[in-house]
Amino acid sequence: MSRGLFVSFEGGDGAGKSTQVAALAQWLEDLGRTVVCTFEPGDTPLGAVLRQAVQHGDHVNARTEALLYAADRAHHVAAVVRPALARGDDVLTDRYLDSSVAYQGVGRELGADTVEKLSLWAADGLLPDLTVLLDIDPKVGLGRLNTAPDRLESAGDRFHRRVRKAFLARAAADPDRFCVVDATLPRKVIAEAVRERVHTLL
Ligand code: TYD
Repeated sequence: MSRGLFVSFEGGDGAGKSTQVAALAQWLEDLGRTVVCTFEPGDTPLGAVLRQAVQHGDHVNARTEALLYAADRAHHVAAVVRPALARGDDVLTDRYLDSSVAYQGVGRELGADTVEKLSLWAADGLLPDLTVLLDIDPKVGLGRLNTAPDRLESAGDRFHRRVRKAFLARAAADPDRFCVVDATLPRKVIAEAVRERVHTLL
């Protein structure tokens, strides 16, 4: 059986990634495919512990933060993503390695290259077939959230502007892997743009 399709969704907080993951999953399932929807950080029992530590812990410095996301990714890839792809399932993940590069590498200023290497090591080299970047002005994205902000969401406007720029720079550098969509468009229009791109990969 051939390996399933691996798609990651990236973007600032409040960009609407989970809505688009669900929409694409439904479309793929309607085509008769088996889909696993997952997310980072935290979609395993160990990941849930790491998520709590990194999102809500006290005195988590930037390097610790990068390592906690990398640990979550290593476990997530080994326990969930690779087994699903090997079964022939499609995997849709709400955030993956590009989040680490943008948030820790550029947002926290640890260095994009360093964090990319760390993340690739954690994931044992697994890159998505397609990465959908839902691009949004952080003021608009954060304004959409209706829960109390976590550590990352409270990191400030300049941090979030750096993160947005980093995502866009990565997308511009790798147009074969990335599909950039304006996250302020109506959700149906976004879903259609994503489907069009996924269609070319099937
Ligand atoms: P989450 O509540 O899942 O936010 P969202 O719904 O916006 O995805 O929290 C994920 C947060 O973790 C988000 O602020 C981005 C951050 N993050 C990183 O900083 N690095 C990473 O590698 C990942 C996966 C997430």
